[in-house]
Amino acid sequence: MWNDLNEHAQRIEGRHILDLFEDSSRAEAFSLSAEGMLFDYSKTQIDADVLDALVAMAEDSGVAARRHAMFSGKKINETEGRAVLHVALRDPDGGSVEVDGADVIPEVRETLSRMEMLAEEIRGSKITDVVNIGIGGSDLGPAMATRALSPYHDGPRCHFVSNVDGADIADTLALCDPATTMFIVASKTFTTIETMTNARTAHAWLTRAGVTPDARFVALSSNKEKAAEWGIPEERVLGFADWVGGRYSVWGPIGLSLMIAIGPKNFRDFLSGARSMDVHFRDAPLDRNMPVLLALVGIWHNQVLGYATRAVLPYDNRLGRLPAYLQQLEMESNGKSVSMDGEALKVPSGPIVWGEPGTNGQHAFYQLIHQGTQVVPCEFMVAAQGHEADLGHHHELLVANCLAQSEALMRGRDLEEARSKVSGQFEGAELERQARHRVFPGNRPSTTLVYPMLDPATLGRIVALYEHRVFVEGSVLGINSYDQWGVELGKELATALGPIVAGDQSADGKDGSTAQLVAYVQKNCG
Ligand code: F6P
Repeated sequence: MWNDLNEHAQRIEGRHILDLFEDSSRAEAFSLSAEGMLFDYSKTQIDADVLDALVAMAEDSGVAARRHAMFSGKKINETEGRAVLHVALRDPDGGSVEVDGADVIPEVRETLSRMEMLAEEIRGSKITDVVNIGIGGSDLGPAMATRALSPYHDGPRCHFVSNVDGADIADTLALCDPATTMFIVASKTFTTIETMTNARTAHAWLTRAGVTPDARFVALSSNKEKAAEWGIPEERVLGFADWVGGRYSVWGPIGLSLMIAIGPKNFRDFLSGARSMDVHFRDAPLDRNMPVLLALVGIWHNQVLGYATRAVLPYDNRLGRLPAYLQQLEMESNGKSVSMDGEALKVPSGPIVWGEPGTNGQHAFYQLIHQGTQVVPCEFMVAAQGHEADLGHHHELLVANCLAQSEALMRGRDLEEARSKVSGQFEGAELERQARHRVFPGNRPSTTLVYPMLDPATLGRIVALYEHRVFVEGSVLGINSYDQWGVELGKELATALGPIVAGDQSADGKDGSTAQLVAYVQKNCG
């Protein structure tokens, strides 16, 4: 299947994307509307034959069977022996899904209603500030979604502390009053060093202020024993099963801070939006399936054409944390070197995901995207309608900029046009030199996702779309997208380096560079 695609890559070499639009049906043919959103991938080199080959690859790699296995609770996370059932969290009123012979849905329902009671209790209390302490999936999901849905906030202020750098919690606590602040310790394992360190600092902050800490802590964890050991009363511990992966956990207890910010009703809308994307993903044929197409476009650009990175460019300022969220979702899920059976991957894993909201990025890194020597496929996203209609024409400008960027990337500007741009200012060799700096190669691919408005249901849909895209990419590449062994070595070495940095152990045996860096820090730490 890869050979087939590589042949297509050779076939399309030198062809200009703009020329493909001579076919007046192209835009419609290479777009998909689903769940009220429009995904346009026509500004890419994908033509009907490439699309057929990509869909055939998805079929041959058993995406449909694996998708069925995921939805039905099979243990597709094989290296950890776990089911992958974040989809069950957004279907509390659905039919049964069994893991190890037991239906998980009643527990999903019960946990959601406990979350709602706790959220309402906190929203109705004197608490003015809620601090979510967590990292990775226990931070990025709720932090991203809480920022995204700020027009829906009607509860206490929510803050997010993740970094073990004391600056993070210190700057946050400076905004809070111990008399009216609540802490949520969010950690699937309840052993993560950053989170436990920050939680202890928060505990000490309350104690120093004369506030009894116990009633001010809530724990969200799969490890109820550890939460109990930490002294958090059982009624303030919300548990979740091991089939909820950290980076897929915003839909359950880890989403508590979001629910406190936007209220249970809006949180349910967030779940329903995601659920509607789940149903589309589960039921639509592969060639009319938005997550499948999004994944296949990504595979075409990364694994087939060799573009190493992809930029996620939301023209939606409230999606400012989405690129970081997607970095974890995609890179922790599919950044692997071996396939499910332990054999080395035959094609690159990846890709590297990065981005920033537009229009800010336009005045920063878009220079490279337009004129640099590396091709960066861009994924634009924009709402048809903003929340700030009363502010005049901001939104129209935002949309115009978004569409202009994908058009410019595709169209480019040739030397002749560049010459005509500067012909009045320069002449001769200088005109030629100046013109060359103003050439845009064009023919650079992008996709655009347009959605009605960034409301809770739409956000749910978008996040579920990306989750399923990761699933499809992982399935095609034969990767287990649900483990993350690659984070372990650094954790082990950090634990071993702690006493060395503190000066309690010698750096003997460490490599010269590490020993030198430790020595510098020790000499200059004041
Ligand atoms: O170190 C990586 C990781 O395990 C992520 O997968 C996870 O989201 C994060 O750390 C936080 O883990 P926990 O929720 O157990 O504190």
